[in-house]
Amino acid sequence: MKRTALFLILFCLQASPLHAAGDAEKGKYILNMGGCISCHHTPNQKGADLSGGLAIKSPFGTFYVPNITPEPDVGIGGWSDEDFIAAMTQGISPDGSHYYPAFPYTSYTQMTRQDLLDLKAYLDTVAPSKNVVPEHDIPFPFNMRFLMMGWKMMFFDEGTFTPNPNKSEVWNRGAYIVNGPAHCGECHTPRNSLGGSDTSKKFQGNPNGPDKEKIPNIRPKGWEEGDYRTALRMGMTPDGDFLGGSMGHVIAKTTSKLTKDDLNAVITYLVEFE
Ligand code: HEC
Ligand code: HEC
Repeated sequence: MKRTALFLILFCLQASPLHAAGDAEKGKYILNMGGCISCHHTPNQKGADLSGGLAIKSPFGTFYVPNITPEPDVGIGGWSDEDFIAAMTQGISPDGSHYYPAFPYTSYTQMTRQDLLDLKAYLDTVAPSKNVVPEHDIPFPFNMRFLMMGWKMMFFDEGTFTPNPNKSEVWNRGAYIVNGPAHCGECHTPRNSLGGSDTSKKFQGNPNGPDKEKIPNIRPKGWEEGDYRTALRMGMTPDGDFLGGSMGHVIAKTTSKLTKDDLNAVITYLVEFE
């Protein structure tokens, strides 16, 4: 009798989500795919980490990217897996307030639950940092977070990526990476005056991108697969130019770190984009 009870307890412990959740090793790969460090690092501090502080200038004001290390007071220590998934896929914080789309949850919403659990498992292993990040400097009325609820109703398309059954598995893997974790469209798709992505012009470039950068069109324009491979691995275009600015970060942190299969999938999707 006692032994049965013990078995039951052990069985439950093993089956509980606390143990089954994420794989931190895989999560580290997802972190790169998501380019999280490009935004969540601390400027002027060696060894880029996730302790936040970078200022992102936008037409709506300046955002200071938060500390996402597992520190309980100034980071996201103590967040449950569900808190994390709600932030990443619904743009909602554990206290129920709405995030600004300067945090690209508008793309991360497409990420699979398993990828997010793996990512959270990795974030839990990072050294906690006590770095305190300044408050956002957003003028009225944009400083009122509840307005983001209206913004979301207009421009936020929530939901996990759904594969296109008419396309190959490789194409679908590429579509997932580009539109979900790697959030390529957040820069390469132009935005309307309220900061919503203009999906009718997907990937057509943005003359007025983040930090006033001019962002090129990445719709197919005669590049061979090898041209994309060289650009996304080494940053060199077929004209012999080197890609820099924020794309330099994307190449260093994301596309050069993709496995061969994942990079091929991304390229397949870009080449066949219509
Ligand atoms: C383009 C810049 C950018 C990228 C890339 C980015 N974030 Fe963020 N993130 C932000 C900003 C800005 C906020 C603050 C949003 C707000 O205050 O409304 C934020 C907020 C968050 C929060 C909420 C923190 C809190 O204290 O409430 C989490 C969690 C988070 N990001 C995780 C991630 C993860 C994981 C990745 C990579 C998959 C990532 N972010 C990539 C800019 C970014
Ligand atoms: C943070 C903003 C940002 C994100 C995210 C981003 N890009 Fe870029 N991308 C740029 C900028 C800026 C340039 C122009 C760089 C330059 O000319 O030095 C660029 C250039 C490019 C080019 C070269 C185009 C040409 O005609 O020269 C390609 C291809 C490209 N990006 C693909 C991607 C892919 C694929 C992703 C997602 C994995 C991505 N980008 C994500 C900002 C971004």
